[in-house]
Parts: sequence; C-alpha cells; structure tokens
Amino acid sequence: METKANSDFSLILLRWFRENGRDLPWRQTHDPYAIWLSEIILQQTQVKQGWEYWERFMRRWPKVEDLAAATEDEVLREWQGLGYYSRARNLHFAAKQIVEMGGFPRTIEGLRSLKGVGDYTAAAIGSIAFGLPAAVVDGNVYRVLARHFGIDTPINSTEGKKVFAAMAQEHLPVSEASDYNQAIMDFGAIQCTPQSPHCSDCPLMESCVALRSGRVGELPVKQKTLKVRERHLIYIYVRCLGFVAIHRRGAGDIWQGLWEPLLVEKVPEGAQLLRQNVKHVLTHRILLADFYLWEVAERPTLPDGYIWVKEEQLDDYAVPRLVERLVSERI
Ligand code: ADE
Repeated sequence: METKANSDFSLILLRWFRENGRDLPWRQTHDPYAIWLSEIILQQTQVKQGWEYWERFMRRWPKVEDLAAATEDEVLREWQGLGYYSRARNLHFAAKQIVEMGGFPRTIEGLRSLKGVGDYTAAAIGSIAFGLPAAVVDGNVYRVLARHFGIDTPINSTEGKKVFAAMAQEHLPVSEASDYNQAIMDFGAIQCTPQSPHCSDCPLMESCVALRSGRVGELPVKQKTLKVRERHLIYIYVRCLGFVAIHRRGAGDIWQGLWEPLLVEKVPEGAQLLRQNVKHVLTHRILLADFYLWEVAERPTLPDGYIWVKEEQLDDYAVPRLVERLVSERI
C-alpha cells in the first residue's frame, strides 16, 4: 500500500511534469518502435543530439520491418558519431528478432528477451508504449530518489541497485506508469540536476531529506571503481596513388564491424607524424593515439584483412570517432 508521503512524492512529480516536461517528438506517439529507438539512442547521448539521430532513423526506416531489412553496415553508418557501436548492432539484431516474433512483445519479460534491452529499456518501452506498471531506474532516478529520501547506499553497489529499484517501483502509480517514469527522468534532467540543482524553486523542497540535512551535494553516493586502463594506438594513414588501406575490426571488439586504417606497433620509416597523443575517453578505457601519414608509390605488403579503397569512397565506410579525426587531418 502507498503511504501518504509516497503518493505525495509521485503526485508532485506528475504535476511538475505536466507543467515542465520536455516536448519530445517520441512523446507524441505510442508506437513501440519509435519509443524503443529513442530509448536506445538516448542511452549514450544528450537529448539534443539524440533527437537528430532519432529523426534520421525514423525517416530512413519508419517501421521496424524497414530497419530489419537494412544491412548492418547501413545501420552502423547512420549510427556513426553516437559511439558505443554494440548498441547499433544490437538494435539491428533486435529489429530482426521483433519481425520474427510478428511484432513487439508486450510484456516486460518479452521485451527483456530482445538483444540490447535490459531492465531499464524494458521498463521504459513497456510503460511508455503499453502502460505496463514497471518503474525505470537510470542515473536521473538514482539522483532524485537518493536526494529526496536521503539514501546513501552507493548506487553502483549490488545492494544499492536493489534498494533504488524497489523504491522506484514502490512510488510508481500503477495507472500512470508512463508519465511517472518520464516525469522522474525529466525532473532529474531539468530540476534536480547533478551540479547546481534548483532547490530554491523545487516543488519537493519541503519533503526533500537531502535539502533539509544539507546533503544535496553529497548524494547520490557512488563507490569508487578501479582506475580505467590506458591504451596506446598508432594509426598510419597509408596512401598510395589515391587509395588508402583499411581493415574491418573483428568480433569481440568495442569497434566490431567498423573500419580503420593501418594499426601498428612500430612506426614505418618515412611515415610523417600528423598528431601525437590524441586522447579518446571511453567508459572503461582511455585511448591515446598517434596519427601518421605514410605516402607510398607502391603498395606495401600489409597484414591479412586490409583492403585498398579509393580515398573519395572512404566516406562509405563506418569508422570509429577517433579515426574520423585522423581522416579529417590527413590531407
Ligand atoms: N532519458 C531517456 N529516456 C527518457 C525519457 N523517456 N524521458 C526522459 N528522459 C529520458
């Protein structure tokens, strides 16, 4: 049963959402495909940037059947710039799963069986498209709950994940799952922001434990994780009479399916340094890359898997963000 305080929390959020919620294109629809696509895109992207990608995907592939019929290369190419390419591959794979199933699954378990759909995305699609009473938990939800209820259990601990998931579910009004989920996420993104939250005009100021106890800046708590590893890469842009050598990254790789120029341990003689120590930060890794240009009159022998493509056609190949920077600097 909901206590009075709980229902107040949800009601205030819902009222705030009606007045302040963002007017996003995928909020005008109950089409599970449009909603699923928006959620996958927004997992690694700010709304502003994600919006453009969502519109492009929807224009090019208006239905899940269209996306399923695309090639993986086409999907990766359209995804380029968003990063975390396994999400694009999973998206494409799941589109085919959905078509095989004869349409979108309408239960949380069914949604969870789609590649790339975890607890968060299943709850988001389930609630927004089908009204299923499943609470979402993302970074915004952790922050709003941790502050409002004064919870200092680390959000990235096993215990924390359980506590916050239960709490989000407990406060979900069953008949307004879609609005509640989107309200708490928008509230976290707009009002209860990580830095400089707007406490002085917050509709939850009276019941917020963190505000009352001066702990807004300390919550939510995150356990320190091990230091991310650094890796050094040396990329050589090998150019031979208007052609460039590239190869495709294989399975089990962060950039699986993407193309890149020659990657070496040692710089070949005659290669000219373009830029050193270009830093690229990923979630679990920091990459430091040196970029070289190597102009040759004859094609050198390269390891297996490299192909020569016309430089003008390089744009047809999906490349990692880091490599885009090399490509734009080589001239
Ligand atoms: N972030 C990701 N999905 C969202 C949604 N549906 N509403 C608000 N913020 C989000």
